Amino acid sequence: MRTVLITGATSGFGKLLTEAFLQNGDYVIATGRNLTERNEVFSFERKNHPDRFMELTLDVTQKSEIAMAAATVANRLGTIDILINNAGYGLFGALEDLTEEEIRYQMEVNFFGTVAVTRAFLPALRQTQGKIFNFSSVFGFMGFPLTSLYCSSKYAVEGLTESLRGELAPFGVQVCLIEPGGFRTNFGSNLRWSSPGAQSAYHAQFMNYKDLHGKISKRKPQQPSEVSEGILRLSLQKRLPMRKVFGKDGRLSYFLKHCLPSRVYFTLMDRVFRMVFLKAQT
Ligand SMILES: NC(=O)c1ccc[n+]([C@@H]2O[C@H](COP(=O)([O-])OP(=O)(O)OC[C@H]3O[C@@H](n4cnc5c(N)ncnc54)[C@H](OP(=O)(O)O)[C@@H]3O)[C@@H](O)[C@H]2O)c1
Repeated sequence: MRTVLITGATSGFGKLLTEAFLQNGDYVIATGRNLTERNEVFSFERKNHPDRFMELTLDVTQKSEIAMAAATVANRLGTIDILINNAGYGLFGALEDLTEEEIRYQMEVNFFGTVAVTRAFLPALRQTQGKIFNFSSVFGFMGFPLTSLYCSSKYAVEGLTESLRGELAPFGVQVCLIEPGGFRTNFGSNLRWSSPGAQSAYHAQFMNYKDLHGKISKRKPQQPSEVSEGILRLSLQKRLPMRKVFGKDGRLSYFLKHCLPSRVYFTLMDRVFRMVFLKAQT
């Protein structure tokens, strides 16, 4: 039986991954913030899989909680076979309109959280020749206006993961980037937006982007189970690919960014961005 640890398992992809791996017969350690005050989140899993389920409080920005989780896993289970660094959120807004605190916290959760949890569980994963899945995004290989910090955090996850591929290969530990397009989880409702006043130089861009985001959110959603089932299937493969893109929009974005000559790609994107972000000013 494989042991799988998932960060941010309280919602969205993380919750679905918990269900998918439990259904597969794996032992799942579901981690999340403030679990003692959120007793209901895993009531189903606790009741239905008492022998193969553990929940641990783990805010990925809290060193003491990471250390406690690693110690608990070591004492109670010994090792893990799979780590899924899924916890994350999006911070949207113009760079100038964000506070330093907002900027740093975005990197703390999405990037340094992934770094810290990976470091804590690598000794266990080296023992089992385990697998690590790091959540990036389409925003991890394409830059977009008004999402510079979210993109930066995911680009950083990409650099980390590609570098770890060679570093961990001698130990038999494999890493894989997960790059979803837009899926209907609680990501949209958990987004943190800057709050530019009318005096902000980016006010029109920001309002146009929020408007577009609202319209996109109402479109037929891509089902997040595509991602959770896809990761489960990948985890059963002997060799992991470097990255896996999910969603029609994700695959189109990947093609545009990686198959078009750079000059063509950026000319195209300049047009798209002018249309979307500056429409009120043209
Ligand atoms: N949905 C998409 O379209 C999409 C596309 C590309 C990439 N992604 C990535 O997919 C991952 C999962 O997001 P989702 O779409 O499933 O969104 P979600 O439904 O909002 O779930 C995000 C999860 O991350 C957790 N989290 C946030 N900050 C945390 C922290 N400091 N410590 C521990 N957990 C924390 C949340 O916990 P709480 O319940 O405590 O808030 C929640 O469980 C993220 O890395 C996101 O960037 C999503």
